Amino acid sequence: MRVLSGIQPTGKLHLGNYLGAMKQHIEAQEENECLFFIANYHSLTSIQEPERLRELTRDVAIDYLAFGLDPNKASLFRQSDIPEVTELTWILSTVTGRGLLERAHSYKDKVARGLPASMGLFCYPVLMAADILIYRSDVVPVGKDQVQHIEMAQDMAGYFNNTFNCNALKRPEPRLNRAMVVPGVDGQKMSKSYGNTIPLFEAAKATRKIIMSIKTDSKTVQEPKDPDSCTVFALYSLLADPAEVAELDRRYRAGGMGYGEAKTMLADRAERVLGPARERREQLVKDPDFVEDVLRRGAGKARSIAREVMAGVREACGLLVAKDTHA
Ligand code: TRP
Repeated sequence: MRVLSGIQPTGKLHLGNYLGAMKQHIEAQEENECLFFIANYHSLTSIQEPERLRELTRDVAIDYLAFGLDPNKASLFRQSDIPEVTELTWILSTVTGRGLLERAHSYKDKVARGLPASMGLFCYPVLMAADILIYRSDVVPVGKDQVQHIEMAQDMAGYFNNTFNCNALKRPEPRLNRAMVVPGVDGQKMSKSYGNTIPLFEAAKATRKIIMSIKTDSKTVQEPKDPDSCTVFALYSLLADPAEVAELDRRYRAGGMGYGEAKTMLADRAERVLGPARERREQLVKDPDFVEDVLRRGAGKARSIAREVMAGVREACGLLVAKDTHA
């Protein structure tokens, strides 16, 4: 099965990003053909500082590698290294009604938050559909907020195939990420815009301090506690093994355990995940050639698929190509 997802660089990643998306992406590499790309064309709709875009793009690659993306199992590449994607975007836009895009929630949300209503922002779902369809992807793991975009990609594949009576594009299926809601230190959804995040790459001590500041109720040590309404427990259960989670559940309900101890357990558990990634990250930062080579190889693999699919698309819609110009 071919699994594809795009990651839009947004700056410093937090535990919500890891548990909500990255972890599933990286796990998928074991059993699937995986293509993951850094959506830097999409980023142009919000970032117009070249140096910052370069930096953010590089950071996504480093962060994924630090958490165990294996370039021998999964392809990691920059969206912009596959320029055919923009060609397919145009072609899809000619078979897609404007009304479909006018219904996009994310466009309306972004404009409401003050992003400029550029054509790029409006056409964002067409570019995203091209990303997906150009690799004939089977499955696209995404968060809930992106499901509408995948449904639009399904529609666009249908519009193209029906219009040109062909099967050049394949209908993809969304796969919802498992940990849909990761709570932040205040109990609301963990999000950069709420300022309640647990960062992935801060120093161990600083991260521990943030974890110790998680809001809890004011039950005494002796009182029994409700694991289901506790942020510390919720985060622990996203990180620990089922047996460890069951044990903490038992101790909460029995009483005699304070939140301080639970937070310490959470901080220890988090460090077991974050510590090794932090170390790998430090190595990767010192080795930009390695990172670049990973991206180059990933793009090579992705582009060979994209070229083949585009040959079928051009053929289907009657775009002639002069011999040898697309070699
Ligand atoms: N829009 C996605 C997000 O913000 C990123 C993205 C771009 C993407 N192209 C994609 C995700 C294709 C999946 C497939 O998260």
